[in-house]
Amino acid sequence: MSRLPQTQRALQFNRVGGPEVLEIATSAPLPSIKPDQILVKNAYAGVNYIDTYFRGGVYPASPLPYTLGREGEGTIVAIGSSVTDYKVGDYVGYMGPESQAEYTAVSANYVIAVPAGVEPGVTAAVLLQGLTAFTLIRDAHEVKRGDAVLVHAAAGGVGLLLCQLLRAVGAGTIIATASTKEKLQLAEKNGATHGIDYSKEDWVARVKEITGGQGVIAVFDGVGKSTFDGDLEVLARKGSLVSFGNASGVVPPFSIGRLSAKNLKVLRPTLFMYLTTKEEFTEAATELLRFVKEKKVDVKIHKIYSLEEAQQAHKDIEGRGTTGKLVYKL
Ligand SMILES: NC(=O)c1ccc[n+]([C@@H]2O[C@H](COP(=O)([O-])OP(=O)(O)OC[C@H]3O[C@@H](n4cnc5c(N)ncnc54)[C@H](OP(=O)(O)O)[C@@H]3O)[C@@H](O)[C@H]2O)c1
Repeated sequence: MSRLPQTQRALQFNRVGGPEVLEIATSAPLPSIKPDQILVKNAYAGVNYIDTYFRGGVYPASPLPYTLGREGEGTIVAIGSSVTDYKVGDYVGYMGPESQAEYTAVSANYVIAVPAGVEPGVTAAVLLQGLTAFTLIRDAHEVKRGDAVLVHAAAGGVGLLLCQLLRAVGAGTIIATASTKEKLQLAEKNGATHGIDYSKEDWVARVKEITGGQGVIAVFDGVGKSTFDGDLEVLARKGSLVSFGNASGVVPPFSIGRLSAKNLKVLRPTLFMYLTTKEEFTEAATELLRFVKEKKVDVKIHKIYSLEEAQQAHKDIEGRGTTGKLVYKL
């Protein structure tokens, strides 16, 4: 094994703010591994909207400087003493913090071997968003054949994967919202049966119209503040509002009594609380990567950025100009 360096490049910020606070630390310490961890030399790391929440102060980031990242892909260069199922040299994908750096120490519970036939970069592109989409329609609200559902920001990273998985499980009416005609066309190519430009149209009225006044049994909403009230309106009796993100801002406190008019459910899930054990992660990630390998799930990569282009990546995803996934190549 080649000797590991003492320091590394890492994407960090020292204070919260706009994309300009992002900087590349050139001599960040190499992480040390605990007995149940492995050290990965990253080849790719996924960009996620959550990176902007930490950078901008929506979610607390400590300690500073804070190294960003939640998923990656690369070669194992060191193994903790209690890890038995991986070895140095294995090429793996993983979920875990501080992945937007040259090296990441990650719990072996959240590691998966990249299957032959899955292209480099694709595992880092699909793991977190794919598993999010998977658990949202399986655990948050189990979507059944024939269901009418609504997906907001349907041309985004999670959105496109949601559309594909909803089609795969046989949802009957898959209504997509997005802010341009091109994004809606993409969502429809990926499984949506109807598209609404929620930046221009009265999307609440359109959802009611499309569903013949019945409404949808589930809304999958990563947009948050700007769509929350409308979501309650378009849900059918006993429907679920699955609110899983805050791209437009955090949903303000609301009166629980608003749910009783239609016996609605509101959920605010996070992926890591669905996949808490090695077994849960491995089962879901294995199935997801099998879908990718068999081309049952198409992973649309918007753009591959260098770590040095991180400010631009943040501007792009917050500026609503992206479709699918943004990835860093280390
Ligand atoms: N809970 C979890 O475990 C979990 C896991 C992964 C992701 N998420 C959440 O899922 C959502 C999607 O994440 P992603 O990484 O796939 O991002 P993304 O969907 O690729 O990008 C966000 C999209 O949100 C839409 N949007 C609506 N209002 C916006 C506004 N005011 N500013 C910026 N964007 C706005 C934009 O699409 P339009 O232009 O079409 O409106 C934009 O493209 C995020 O909220 C993220 O935090 C949650």
